Amino acid sequence: MTTSGTNTQSSSIHGTWSKRWTFILAASGSAVGLGNIWKFPYITGENGGSAFVLIYLVCILAIGIPIMIAETMLGRRGRKSPILSMRDIAINSNASGYWQLVGIMGTLAGIFILSYYSVIAGWALAYIPKLASGEFSGVSGAAAKSIFDGEQGLLSDYKTLLFWHSLFTIVTVYVVARGIQAGLERAVRFLMPALILLLLVLLGYSVMEGAFAEGARFLFAFDASKLSWNSALVALGHAFFTLSLGMGSIMAYGAYMPKEDSIAKTITIIAVLDTGIALIAGLVIFPLVFAHGLEPSAGPGLMFISLPLAFGHITGGELFGTLFFILVAFAAWTSAISLIEPGVAWLIERFGATRRNAALILGGAAWVLGIGTVFSFNIWKEYKLLDTFTIFDGMDFLTSNIMLPLGGLLIALFVGWVMKPEAAEDELNMKNPALLSAWWFLLRYVAPTAVAVVFVMGIYDKFAG
Ligand code: TRP
Repeated sequence: MTTSGTNTQSSSIHGTWSKRWTFILAASGSAVGLGNIWKFPYITGENGGSAFVLIYLVCILAIGIPIMIAETMLGRRGRKSPILSMRDIAINSNASGYWQLVGIMGTLAGIFILSYYSVIAGWALAYIPKLASGEFSGVSGAAAKSIFDGEQGLLSDYKTLLFWHSLFTIVTVYVVARGIQAGLERAVRFLMPALILLLLVLLGYSVMEGAFAEGARFLFAFDASKLSWNSALVALGHAFFTLSLGMGSIMAYGAYMPKEDSIAKTITIIAVLDTGIALIAGLVIFPLVFAHGLEPSAGPGLMFISLPLAFGHITGGELFGTLFFILVAFAAWTSAISLIEPGVAWLIERFGATRRNAALILGGAAWVLGIGTVFSFNIWKEYKLLDTFTIFDGMDFLTSNIMLPLGGLLIALFVGWVMKPEAAEDELNMKNPALLSAWWFLLRYVAPTAVAVVFVMGIYDKFAG
């Protein structure tokens, strides 16, 4: 394996996407997932709504998109796993090879995220038979809630949770082991339009039957009194999470991107699509929450209570509901794949592992860690780290609010200040000089400052405020 001169490499040993659209499909498959449909609505509810949404949108625009462009550019420049791409590009820029630590932290973050991601995706899988069998037909809000987290509810049943968590991990490992190009292209091509279509059907239902004005006001009527530094940190962390940023997923996919594609344009399309889907999910869920007297701050169960409730009252709800949770599981699947791809590519390059073994090792590690998340909803529910976090909360906080912002900050600093600017500009090949200057400005000054301030203040607010 060579350790230098990667700049001339035009493709990765792991393959290149076959067509121009494939990067868009794969990267949006990675970005659009539980983050949009499950996480965005529930953390918006927990953080009081509109002010949080506004910070999130600003973070996407001013921080997320510039860093996402930088991350993709690094991947395509290095053409290797994030760890080795970071090292090679650093060495080529006469900087320390220790920059590969950014890739190592990201690879770890991916395993940590997958550990709970597959548990939540497991909830979606568990809901497929529940909707198909009509368990939610005509239920009340209280009944829908108790199917989810009542004494006999899904969350209390750790054996069932373990089963679905295991199944989801297995299918994720399976696709990664086969090589991500094979099944992914086709899956995403059909999945994304279907998911959007179904969300629009649900939106129609929410407009007609839900408390739509109240829901929309909750999301968009700015209320400064609800701002806090910790909410800002959660919003920032989620901007990274939802765009699959700060840990190398997008870098790994960038390595398989054809040379001719425009990175800036492609990334902007993906970010807009991703944000749009999250906002639609919010506009579906909150009107239902208010119409049925549910709590917007109900936490991780928000989608699993409000949506089945709606399906329980729609004609054809069993069919639509079943379809919806199938699509959510698919969306989670195409995201989960990207969580271990950086580590898998690295094990192959660095240790000559087979793709299958690499996927098994990392998927296995995530599966074991995920057992902690499963138990944090039942038998270990009362067990709190630092008096605050269940294992699930802790994993989520550590990854979304610490590792991803830190990874993103380091990527911005690396590309903004360490990497040779000519190399970055050559790889980006941006035709519009004004946009290029805007990108440099956001990446060098705005993103690092904003992430650093929100990070420090948010952590302080969380623990001392
Ligand atoms: N973006 C995905 C979602 O919204 C999750 C995800 C995939 C992710 N790869 C990632 C999050 C890398 C952070 C980093 O569901």
